[in-house]
Amino acid sequence: MARPVLKWAGGKRRLRFEIDKLLPPDHAGRNYHEPFFGGGALFFHLEPRGGSINDVNERLIRFYKVVRELPQELIEEVNRYEYGKERYYELRTRFNEGELEPVEEAAIFLYLNKTGYNGLYRVNSKNKFNVPFGRYKKPAIVHPGRIIRASELFRRFEIYCERFTYIKEVAEEGDLVYLDPPYLPKSDTADFTAYSKLGFGFDDHLMLRDLCLELDEKGVYFIQSNSFVEPIMDAYRGTEFKIHTVEASRAINRVISDRGRIPEVLITNIPNV
Ligand SMILES: C[S@@+](CC[C@H](N)C(=O)[O-])C[C@H]1O[C@@H](n2cnc3c(N)ncnc32)[C@H](O)[C@@H]1O
Repeated sequence: MARPVLKWAGGKRRLRFEIDKLLPPDHAGRNYHEPFFGGGALFFHLEPRGGSINDVNERLIRFYKVVRELPQELIEEVNRYEYGKERYYELRTRFNEGELEPVEEAAIFLYLNKTGYNGLYRVNSKNKFNVPFGRYKKPAIVHPGRIIRASELFRRFEIYCERFTYIKEVAEEGDLVYLDPPYLPKSDTADFTAYSKLGFGFDDHLMLRDLCLELDEKGVYFIQSNSFVEPIMDAYRGTEFKIHTVEASRAINRVISDRGRIPEVLITNIPNV
């Protein structure tokens, strides 16, 4: 059971045991794909044998490629950056302005992730990373063991930077796919779809539903997490998929009163055992 390398908004570490209950007993022998990888909490929990991971966030994917190819160099580079507010803003500017070498870019990415406010990844309309300093007392910035383990695991995987529909080409009969899209906001003020410039709207959720139907047709198992809201439930009415509700607390939410337990669903075509 490995641990994620990054903090990530909407990370699903807290759902891992709920998801475990739905997996087929022979899941360890199946190829695994994660089209909305983010921090990859489930991936690290399962340590699957092979398959693909993907995210539309280019910097995130460049970071993971450095983790896979040059883990030791990455660790050494991050260790050179001392912790502090001034250093944070200096590195943030460098990250936004420079044409950086892959190892330096990845090292700054990790530093900003561990020392920025709430581990958020947020960019402005010009794709400039604009998260403020996080004011932690003594944050752990590098976990060398986690990076080395991630590197070993990633060597068994294809790493893509595409939209989630790439999976149509890649998943084969018998494979397992975990889908964790940005959730539909409960309201505009509670919106947290700023993972990328592209956003993820209701049309994308309908496209994702159609993709699940295609995967099912092809004999691919999938589990999708989503929020328990009317439009999503309507979209899946009429399919034969199973919908399990789970309660989970969400740490990152701009509306303080909305913190706490927000019902979520797990949608799957995996038969009960
Ligand atoms: C809820 S997060 C995934 C969190 C992840 N399961 C974890 O445990 O950290 C959703 C991810 O989908 C990515 N994303 C957004 N739109 C996408 C798209 N159209 N295709 C692929 N990935 C997308 C975002 O960059 C974000 O990292």
